[in-house]
Amino acid sequence: MSRQALILLGFIGILVPFAYGYQCQDYGALIGSPDGVRLTQEEHPSGWRRQDCIICHPIRNIHCDDEGAFLTGWDMEWVRGVVESRGEKSCSICHGDNGAGPSIQ
Ligand code: HEC
Ligand code: HEC
Repeated sequence: MSRQALILLGFIGILVPFAYGYQCQDYGALIGSPDGVRLTQEEHPSGWRRQDCIICHPIRNIHCDDEGAFLTGWDMEWVRGVVESRGEKSCSICHGDNGAGPSIQ
């Protein structure tokens, strides 16, 4: 491939996320993690016990990779719908309480 073509491709790669205004967060297929989609302290050191999920995981930046879900059978279209209608309150339905058990309220 010519140099110009590579530079052009690089530009497109940089511009697309700007144009769409988001950057998809992807931590790989969560099925491979210790407790599936449910969070554990080991896999969530940076966000453990925090309930303000969307500060670090803005809703439009998550659930946008359908790859992991393809392996697990999750319907990401449905997941996005649930999150859209219920917002931050929905997170614990699927990801568990993130360490915020009744004991530490
Ligand atoms: C302070 C920022 C922060 C907050 C608040 C936060 N997270 Fe995270 N989250 C992260 C980071 C950073 C990662 C990447 C793994 C790590 O370093 O902890 C992550 C990873 C994840 C993952 C992928 C875990 C895996 O198996 O790889 C999920 C799911 C997730 N967070 C959900 C949540 C939910 C649900 C909440 C709220 C209950 C939340 N996060 C709150 C920063 C945060
Ligand atoms: C209806 C179930 C469901 C709800 C509700 C839900 N999630 Fe998820 N979440 C999933 C599934 C399924 C995955 C993808 C697992 C995979 O890729 O293997 C995922 C993946 C993630 C990831 C990893 C990055 C990614 O996009 O793959 C983060 C971060 C995350 N969710 C945060 C949240 C936060 C924050 C909320 C609340 C606003 C939330 N989730 C609500 C099911 C849900």
